[in-house]
Amino acid sequence: MKQAFPIGVFDSGFGGLTVLKELLKSLPQYDYIYLGDNARAPYGPRSFDVVHKYTLQAVNWLFDKGCRVVILACNTASAKALRTIQQRDLPLIDPTRRVLGVIRPVTESAGVYTKNRHLGILGTEGTVQSGSYPIEIKKFFPDIIVTQEACPIWVPLVENHEHESEGTDFFVKRHIDHILSVDPSIDALILACTHYPLLINKIRKYTPQHISVISQGEIVAKSLSDYFLRHPDKEEMCSQNGKRYFNTTDLTASFDRMTRLLFDIPIQIEQVNLL
Ligand code: DGL
Repeated sequence: MKQAFPIGVFDSGFGGLTVLKELLKSLPQYDYIYLGDNARAPYGPRSFDVVHKYTLQAVNWLFDKGCRVVILACNTASAKALRTIQQRDLPLIDPTRRVLGVIRPVTESAGVYTKNRHLGILGTEGTVQSGSYPIEIKKFFPDIIVTQEACPIWVPLVENHEHESEGTDFFVKRHIDHILSVDPSIDALILACTHYPLLINKIRKYTPQHISVISQGEIVAKSLSDYFLRHPDKEEMCSQNGKRYFNTTDLTASFDRMTRLLFDIPIQIEQVNLL
């Protein structure tokens, strides 16, 4: 029998936990190793080179743990590092391993979310500047008009546990109002940052009811399950004992609080060093 290893899930910080949560709901049988680079988050404002360097270090760390399949559960890393890792780094490291991102699953299904073909993307500065969403959506759905809005303050608000606080309303409302003033025909807003589902109550509060608000977690989980159906050779390299391992590059009380907020299982968190 072939040796099998956990699925690696990487994010710059807490955000990828929202994706992991959906993976655990849909595909609970697999083992998962989560890695959050909290010591160096946020990645949003960083350059392509730095995001690539940090993400590659994280991927190599997960590969060292045995992972055959790694998910970049971070839009910024998916936008700024994934292509280089897939095309340049992976063939040199181990062409049999896979690194998958979170942008493709959303863009290839984008047509489902909008009736009137006007879509809004809410993301970090890095994701918005990369143009990955409009470029990818255009390939699949040339008729969809995409408007983007960078919300640079939202990730620090979540990382600082201010996602439920009153002051956060101001910053959420400001960006929702702005994107809807740029394109009032938008009928679906995509949360193109894994931290944003933690702001969902406030985002819904300031979004008119006829507009759908789409989180990525479920879409990514569905896409992984489809991927495994298409690639049984990769699926059988993923171990299935229902184990979860949580790692961060900066173990603070807030990482612990965030994991407890999202998961109702006992959680042991390890601090690790990527350098
Ligand atoms: N989790 C990242 C994303 O989905 C955002 C956090 C960051 O800027 O590091 O884009």
